[in-house]
Amino acid sequence: MQDQASKLKSSQVVAVISGKGGVGKTLIATNIAATFVENGKKALVLDADVGFTNADILLGAFPKFSIKDFVNRTCSVDDLVTRTVYGVDLVSLGGDVIDILTVSEAVLKDFATHFLKLLDNYDVVVMDMPPGFSESYMPFLALADDFIVMSTIEPTSIVNTYTIVKLLSIKGISGESIHLVANMVQDVKEAGKLMNRFSEVVEKFVNNKVNSITIVKEHPLVEKSIRNRELFVRKHRNIQPSFSITRLVSILLKTSNNTKDKNEQQKVLERFLNFFRGAAR
Ligand SMILES: Nc1ncnc2c1ncn2[C@@H]1O[C@H](COP(=O)(O)OP(=O)(O)O)[C@@H](O)[C@H]1O
Ligand SMILES: [Mg+2]
Repeated sequence: MQDQASKLKSSQVVAVISGKGGVGKTLIATNIAATFVENGKKALVLDADVGFTNADILLGAFPKFSIKDFVNRTCSVDDLVTRTVYGVDLVSLGGDVIDILTVSEAVLKDFATHFLKLLDNYDVVVMDMPPGFSESYMPFLALADDFIVMSTIEPTSIVNTYTIVKLLSIKGISGESIHLVANMVQDVKEAGKLMNRFSEVVEKFVNNKVNSITIVKEHPLVEKSIRNRELFVRKHRNIQPSFSITRLVSILLKTSNNTKDKNEQQKVLERFLNFFRGAAR
């Protein structure tokens, strides 16, 4: 008989990243998480982006505590989780990682152990990352199974995306794990052509073939849903952005590999800690 204890469930971690802020990371991260929930998955959003709009606003939630409080010993690990009306749970980092996790080895280890255990309660963890590719966030990125790299189709944004995909490749991330999302697009067909050409350039010069390309239209109902603190995938099901998110989630569902054995989990913990040791001190 299969030894259940040695076969712990492990979540699929999806990191949403971009070269610069304001491209829709938080918007897409929250709507993706809600779509995973509709597919019967238990989903968590980790809000590590202290930028434009925070995930709590879009999810209509009011977290009382953050990871910052946990490492400062002012809350328990259970206090970190805020439930939302969308069935998505939310955990907030609570500030810049470098200010929060530059703590003693004992506190760091305690945090890492509890944090990884917390993530394991979920089928999917969507991490809303800050813009850029800061080394201090590597511990979180190192946990990711999939990367959603977001941009607009502005030339500067595309160049940023190229840099990010190149950096991911240098870190040994296979294109299989990379999903490009072009957001706030006016002409879907044109953007599709542009992104296809772009992925060919990546394949040629970075030698990494990305898994998928998603085009999300700029849409007044998306903007309206943000103003109303609602998720557009739930409120407006028949608009292009919702179709795109549904399709992207179905692609991500296919790539999920939800079992890691105990040995592998121990390695994840070690790797997570090592990254903090290397990055945050
Ligand atoms: N597809 C879209 N249609 C309409 N407005 C959008 C769309 N995507 C993003 N926006 C606008 O861009 C703003 C920034 O999005 P946000 O998710 O906060 O970006 P980031 O997290 O990357 O900083 C949103 O508040 C919204 O006004
Ligand atoms: Mg954001």
